Amino acid sequence: MVKRFYEETSGDRSKRVNEYLNNQCRNKKHNLLIIGTGLIGREHIRVASLLGAAKIHGIYDSNENSMDLAEEELQKFSNEKLIRYNSIKSAYQDPAVDAILICTPNYTHHQIFLEVAKSGKPIFVEKPMATSLKDGAEILRLSSKHPAFIQVGMQYRYKAQYVDAFHEVKVLKSLGNIKTISMSEYRPPFLDKVEQWNKFNEFSGGTFVEKCCHYFDLINLLADGQPKDVFASGGQAVNFLNFAHEGRKSDIDDHGFAIINYRNGIRANFTLNMFANEFYEELVITGEKGRLVASEKASADKKRQTKASIMVEVEGHQHYEGSKIGYPPSIEKSGHHGATFFEHEALISQLQQKEVDAATPRQGLMAMLVASAAQRSISENNVVSIAEHAERNGIKEILNQ
Ligand SMILES: NC(=O)c1ccc[n+]([C@@H]2O[C@H](COP(=O)([O-])OP(=O)(O)OC[C@H]3O[C@@H](n4cnc5c(N)ncnc54)[C@H](O)[C@@H]3O)[C@@H](O)[C@H]2O)c1
Repeated sequence: MVKRFYEETSGDRSKRVNEYLNNQCRNKKHNLLIIGTGLIGREHIRVASLLGAAKIHGIYDSNENSMDLAEEELQKFSNEKLIRYNSIKSAYQDPAVDAILICTPNYTHHQIFLEVAKSGKPIFVEKPMATSLKDGAEILRLSSKHPAFIQVGMQYRYKAQYVDAFHEVKVLKSLGNIKTISMSEYRPPFLDKVEQWNKFNEFSGGTFVEKCCHYFDLINLLADGQPKDVFASGGQAVNFLNFAHEGRKSDIDDHGFAIINYRNGIRANFTLNMFANEFYEELVITGEKGRLVASEKASADKKRQTKASIMVEVEGHQHYEGSKIGYPPSIEKSGHHGATFFEHEALISQLQQKEVDAATPRQGLMAMLVASAAQRSISENNVVSIAEHAERNGIKEILNQ
């Protein structure tokens, strides 16, 4: 039976992992290959080093500086040597590699996936799995024939506040049947990237696909039904208005609102704003019995602490007034407030043949489907039917599975 990611609370996870990390006899059984050692590739190096169940066996990046930075990152934790491959082929064909992590820019995922899938090895592909539904669907179709497992890097499900919100809603059923889901993210503009791929719709898939697929995944999982239609409004108001790279002008949205209706009657909305000073995420769920608010406030300024909390407004509930939650500091600091650490733990568990609830290619594609319908709605200023959107993009059969 698949172990649902919200079976344990964030407190249970912290306790279990603290015990594990205090046990010094760790055994690095698995050899990982990281393709793309930019910001998130290095975060995977950090969490792998912290958990200590896998070795960073080798890296490949088309940029030498990124490989230098990855080696430096590893040296902070270990004096082990890694292999620097000079081509993707030599990397994935190395028989010593046990699993492959694709951490390159969004527009490269599909091609690199097709290439490394020839190895038949377990693959972890960062989110979004592709920049078009057609390419994402090809990855999903291939995944059913692939001899090993495939995970998609949508780790926000492991953030402490979402683990606990899901636990309340799905395990304890604190709200009764849920009716509305409201998700929002306020944050500063997109960061610098190697070759600035995230400033262009063509390379990122568009802001709602690139960034917000995390939130559409969470909303889909909570609603636990098929999305029916999406209406969205958004645009580029403040960020990168005068930004150009190699003569090309940035064209990405920096704010937007989306409303999603699900076939089971659940209504959801999503708000994005990327010209805020600080990071703030909030999930509000209402059900027959009351309201739940899960939030996280974070800052690029290391002096300001991350604060995650949960509030469950149901008579007599222990979190009625709101409670602070979180993971141990060493885990939170390793990246995405501990979410990437638990994502990595799920990767290792699946390598050890355990059943896990990591994001699947189907969930990755469903999040992309809602996100791309929202982007289409913005450009057409119209309600987009999910069935019609899926059919137009040649993935109707996947929606009906
Ligand atoms: N899960 C998350 O929360 C999260 C967070 C950040 C980024 N991401 C995703 O991770 C991926 C990488 O993002 P990033 O922030 O690390 O970007 P980045 O620009 O910092 O790093 C990307 C790296 O890939 C390398 N690269 C580009 N094309 C390549 C190719 N064909 N072969 C080998 N290497 C290549 C670049 O040289 C660079 O070093 C993106 O898909 C992004 O959406 C996920």
